[in-house]
Amino acid sequence: MKHIVLAITGASGACYATSLAGQLAGCGHKVHLIVSPMGRRLLQDECGIDEPSGLLGETSPLLVEHAYADLADLLASGSVATDGMVVCPASVNTIAALAAGLCDNLITRCAFVHLKERRKLVLVPRETPTTAIDLENQARLAGAGAIVLPASPGFYAKPSTIQDLVDFLVARILDALGIEHPLGQRYGKLE
Ligand SMILES: Cc1cc2nc3c(=O)[nH]c(=O)nc-3n(C[C@H](O)[C@H](O)[C@H](O)COP(=O)(O)O)c2cc1C
Repeated sequence: MKHIVLAITGASGACYATSLAGQLAGCGHKVHLIVSPMGRRLLQDECGIDEPSGLLGETSPLLVEHAYADLADLLASGSVATDGMVVCPASVNTIAALAAGLCDNLITRCAFVHLKERRKLVLVPRETPTTAIDLENQARLAGAGAIVLPASPGFYAKPSTIQDLVDFLVARILDALGIEHPLGQRYGKLE
């Protein structure tokens, strides 16, 4: 069982986070959830989820919520081992804070910890069009070791539903984390 931190911020695409959490828990991994105030808002607006603890639709020991404002949480310390972190979706605001090295909430602190400890940090931005400022911030984070994985699903797998598009992106996030998964939307397979 791996311990994966899932941070949800106030960008559109909360469905990516719910599907990702479902896949992680479905594969037997523990999801450590941190949700920003605007992330909560978009979870409600886009997915009808009032409480992040209901992200999996049922109570599960594989979903643990950590308080956004609690900078004394275990996840704030580099001495506490995790197996990676995903910010999905990642707002321009949180990306800017990360690029500046800010650590004033548990999402930014935990992401900083993942960078400084050389652990996997996957950022899933969703803003279009965007600015040179945001692109420079993303480039800065990529230079510091983050994997920038824009929320831009591919179409070569011939999606027929919105869930197909969501699954495509979730599969790429799981690949980036090095987690095996049953989502088979690949271009092909080498024999
Ligand atoms: C309906 C709605 C949709 C939004 N979509 C995005 C988005 O796709 N990308 C983004 O960067 N910000 C988006 N925002 C703006 C962010 O929520 C806002 O910048 C906020 O400060 C982000 O805070 P956070 O980083 O603490 O979650 C959206 C806001 C609203 C109300």
